[in-house]
Amino acid sequence: MDLNPLAGTQPGNRSAGWLLSGAALVATVLLFGRQMLRIVLHATPHGLDVPLFLAQPTVIQIHVLAAVTSVAVGAVILWARKGRTFHRTMGWIWASLMAAAAGSSLFIVGLNGDHWSPIHLLSGWTLALLPVAVWAARRHNVNLHKRTMTGVFWGASIVAGAFAFLPGRLMWSLFMG
Ligand code: HEM
Repeated sequence: MDLNPLAGTQPGNRSAGWLLSGAALVATVLLFGRQMLRIVLHATPHGLDVPLFLAQPTVIQIHVLAAVTSVAVGAVILWARKGRTFHRTMGWIWASLMAAAAGSSLFIVGLNGDHWSPIHLLSGWTLALLPVAVWAARRHNVNLHKRTMTGVFWGASIVAGAFAFLPGRLMWSLFMG
């Protein structure tokens, strides 16, 4: 069993990914640091604010449920034995959840007024790479399959998920507002 969740990524891609995420985080802190600090200082951690979640538009509810479930399913897939029926079944479930998370995000705006924001690039990237990763699996191109799937998991799921919890965004309000 492969216990290393980063096993499928190339060291170069991994460093570039961390570097880009770090740069995006630094830029966010520089641009919104003072605003975020004010919000952090007034944080009151609590369990999920169910009424606030239920008050959100359906598309945001679908997005959050699909995205959060996909992180859990993706983590299980990365740690479990590859290639067997379990991996294939969970793989289809994960790919469908990611497609739902990225697809629904195309109908969510707010960070950039009424327009798509830079995070939507991740949505396009995810929707473009998922079919490539599935196609690679069906062609038994294990290397490409590994690289694209782990890239989408870390690059989209984890990075977009982490950014979703920044002070001021909805996930922050759901647990800290
Ligand atoms: C655990 C994972 C994730 C969580 C908890 C999450 C949560 C959210 C929430 C709550 C919003 C509504 C806006 C707000 O934050 O106030 C949102 C917007 C968005 N999410 Fe996610 N998300 C996750 C993963 C993803 C993924 C995997 C993608 C793309 C591949 C994505 C792309 C977007 C985009 C493009 C928006 C719209 C941003 C804007 O307003 O311009 N998210 N997300």
